[in-house]
Amino acid sequence: MPTPVTKAIFPVAGLGTRFLPATKSVPKEIMTLVDRPLIQYAIDEARAAGIEEFIFVTARGKSALEDYFDHSPELERALEDKGKAELLDALRDTYMESGQIAYIRQHKALGLGDAVRCARRLIGDEPFAVILPDDVIAAEEPCLKQMVEAHAETGGSLVAAMEVPTEKTSAYGILDVESEEGAAVKVRGMVEKPKAEDAPSNLAVIGRYILSPAVMDHLDNTDKGAGGEIQLTDAIAREIELGAPVHGFRFKGQRYDCGSKAGFLQATVAFGLDRPDLRDELRAFLTEIISVQTAAE
Ligand code: G1P
Repeated sequence: MPTPVTKAIFPVAGLGTRFLPATKSVPKEIMTLVDRPLIQYAIDEARAAGIEEFIFVTARGKSALEDYFDHSPELERALEDKGKAELLDALRDTYMESGQIAYIRQHKALGLGDAVRCARRLIGDEPFAVILPDDVIAAEEPCLKQMVEAHAETGGSLVAAMEVPTEKTSAYGILDVESEEGAAVKVRGMVEKPKAEDAPSNLAVIGRYILSPAVMDHLDNTDKGAGGEIQLTDAIAREIELGAPVHGFRFKGQRYDCGSKAGFLQATVAFGLDRPDLRDELRAFLTEIISVQTAAE
């Protein structure tokens, strides 16, 4: 039996420049889909997968994130007094016990690989998960849970994967596929953000990883790569070179790229339509606005 995965790293140090001016004072991860911040979706997914320790790699200007996970006795009392049981539950979902959560500062924006490396002392010698909260995945069985189950079979390192249009490969880590083994795909190489003509496939890495602790050691020896940043993809590729098992995992679910405005808006609409209290009104509005726009064209 492989060691269970109980620790997850959440790299949340990014500047969120694509969402300026909003992100001037609000961390991108606090931006909300309907009424829950992006980070809450990531936490819920991690909890459902059995994660017990949550490690946030943060940076200057991200203190609102730390406040978000704090207990809030005044708010709790006010909701209790008013008998607002549902809101109380939603509030309690945000709570983290002190020993469950750790914050580490990434002092310089050197890339995703560097952010993950900042957490190495807390990981030790166990496999660990990495969740990029920008990638929101709606799924019947939460994506990381699917991966934990698959990892029990594959061992080694496992990265979420999905086909992307060829012209988009330069926005992703791309897998060089050796063989298909059901939902798991054996990988013989990985390259970060290749141009379409250089991409070994159009199977892209999506922001969920279960990694062998050896990846942390490789990160120590990884030079700057694509975009002049230390890339997590390059450290995982090193594992493959050393003969360690690395698989892609074709998860079941719909992924939204909430790091882009279009993806964020799509997720907002999809999650809104999924909510029984909002569905009818939102649907009627969308139908109307689309017909008005179509008529005007
Ligand atoms: C990061 C990773 C990339 C991965 C992507 C998934 O890139 O470096 O390999 O495909 O997340 O969202 P970023 O989107 O941070 O540029």
